[in-house]
Amino acid sequence: MCGIFGCILKDGNAAPIIHGALKRLEYRGYDSVGEATLYEGKLYIKKDQGKIDEVNKIHNLDDLPGNIGIGHTRWATHGAPLQINAHPHLDCSGQIAVVHNGIIENFSELKQELENIGHVFRSKTDTEVIAHLIEHAWKTNPSLSLAEAILEAIRRLEGSYAIAVISPKEPNKIVCARNESPLVIGVNENSIYCASDIPAFLPLTNKAVIINDGELVTLSLEGYEIKKISDSSLVMRKPKILDWTPEMALKQGYPHFMLKEIHEQPATLRNTLRLQEHYLDLMTTFLDRAHEVFLVACGTSYHACLAASYMFSKLAFLATYPVIASEFVEQHGKSVNIDSTILAVSQSGETADTLAAVNCARQRAATILGLTNVIGSTLTRISRVYIGQQSGPEIGVAATKTFTSQLSVLSQLALRLAKKRGKVSQDEMDFLAEKMEKLPDIVETILQTQEEKVKQIAKKYKDAKTFFFLGRGTSTATAYEGRLKLMEIAYVPAIAFPAGESKHGPISLVEQGFPVIFICPKDGTHKTLIGNIMEMKARGASIITIIEEGDSEIRELADDYVEIPNGVPEVLSPIPYVIPLQLLAYYIAIERGHNPDRPRNLAKSVTVK
Ligand code: M6R
Repeated sequence: MCGIFGCILKDGNAAPIIHGALKRLEYRGYDSVGEATLYEGKLYIKKDQGKIDEVNKIHNLDDLPGNIGIGHTRWATHGAPLQINAHPHLDCSGQIAVVHNGIIENFSELKQELENIGHVFRSKTDTEVIAHLIEHAWKTNPSLSLAEAILEAIRRLEGSYAIAVISPKEPNKIVCARNESPLVIGVNENSIYCASDIPAFLPLTNKAVIINDGELVTLSLEGYEIKKISDSSLVMRKPKILDWTPEMALKQGYPHFMLKEIHEQPATLRNTLRLQEHYLDLMTTFLDRAHEVFLVACGTSYHACLAASYMFSKLAFLATYPVIASEFVEQHGKSVNIDSTILAVSQSGETADTLAAVNCARQRAATILGLTNVIGSTLTRISRVYIGQQSGPEIGVAATKTFTSQLSVLSQLALRLAKKRGKVSQDEMDFLAEKMEKLPDIVETILQTQEEKVKQIAKKYKDAKTFFFLGRGTSTATAYEGRLKLMEIAYVPAIAFPAGESKHGPISLVEQGFPVIFICPKDGTHKTLIGNIMEMKARGASIITIIEEGDSEIRELADDYVEIPNGVPEVLSPIPYVIPLQLLAYYIAIERGHNPDRPRNLAKSVTVK
């Protein structure tokens, strides 16, 4: 996730306006920043790595001439957060400046093709291909307008993008376009804006035009013209008047960041399916060679590791050891060695306990692999290979979208490893890959159809003193994560364990009305889990189940149930099955009058041991 912005003003300098808008978009990314303006037929650019305020201190971003310009605040996906990779990016001639939010999936092929015909690339970003493609279209047909050259270029792109482009060849225009990344236009009598999100221009205008996927817009002081990218046909759309406060705009109308981030999961999961094959393959190779693999993390990230240990074992026949990072040194500090591989999972990449475990393993010459949401974080700097999970910044303290993205990346790794090791047939492989592709839609369906039901369940159980969260197999990880969400934001003590453990102790807590949440995908554990439900029911527990749609057997045993679309393979089930648990924690927190975005005593990133 990055933030893009552009503006044309009738009077005054664009640069300070861009700077202010980028500050309001900083929540979308903040590892580098850049601006480009046009003045008297020349392009002016300032960009660097670092937060906006840091870059501004060094470069004085407001000091760029011209009434028209574009800007970008970056959340690195392709290419480290360095000045060279900061946007805007230019073509070879330095006449086309592009800012971009999204991921161009076929950028390697396009880059190769462009390099073969003489284009010289400066950065490691996917974005730069867009500038060169536009240049190429213009070179091939110099009579094209900027918008036409851009149309030719973006028709070649696969992946997601919201772009804004300026060029001294058409000095009074900004051309922008979108596919699967957000883009909105703001209009005023004396100015016009484009942005990734409404908060960018909300203090400047309350008239907005939402741009849809597959549309290109040309902005000028005369107004805006929307065209379909597919056939260049014109689209007529009037601005809407917004009555949002800046605070509401930042949360896109949701009451809390946590709820917004829960709802972002279909989009973030689509992003994680666009990871660079190259990094996945490289990490798979390291995992394949490893003698022993530790999956090391804290909190929610540890639950992703726990789920991953089932995925690696079931799909790729690889035994891995999920370890809570703060225990790693005590438990394995002496035995970890040159033959060990540590896959450290940390959305922030800065968690002190995780880094301490990694440092201990590094000192003993183990191989370090990293999975994180923050490229440029300490974890990325000390890992032999790392993968950026591409969830975009998560503001709510409770991890939601970063958890499902971690699961998505880890399942992709497990699948690749299975293929490499010849542990799954081609048919099975195709089946799982297809199911993985469908997960974002499945999560979308759950959010659309089950949220109201979860709200009612939250109302019913809001005063419960404690809960059990139970699952078997891979769902054990889902149960642990559901329990953590409820405890941390609703302050309800809860216990999670593999359902088979009930009769070894915890069942003695159960009495009439004790709420027990069962995670029940229709997998190999289904039958045994029914036995576990029966034993709880016999002791008067209230049974809440997350079941597969149409699972009448469990539905009839349950006091309350939430349904997940059927056909999700067991190893992928934590992704959809955790969604109702995130919503449940959220709505119980609301019912109990707590702010889910700021749970007491907690911080987003725990940088102390
Ligand atoms: O940044 P990390 O993934 O390393 O953070 C680890 C935990 O602190 C984190 O997952 C925490 O448990 C969640 N914020 C809970 O929702």
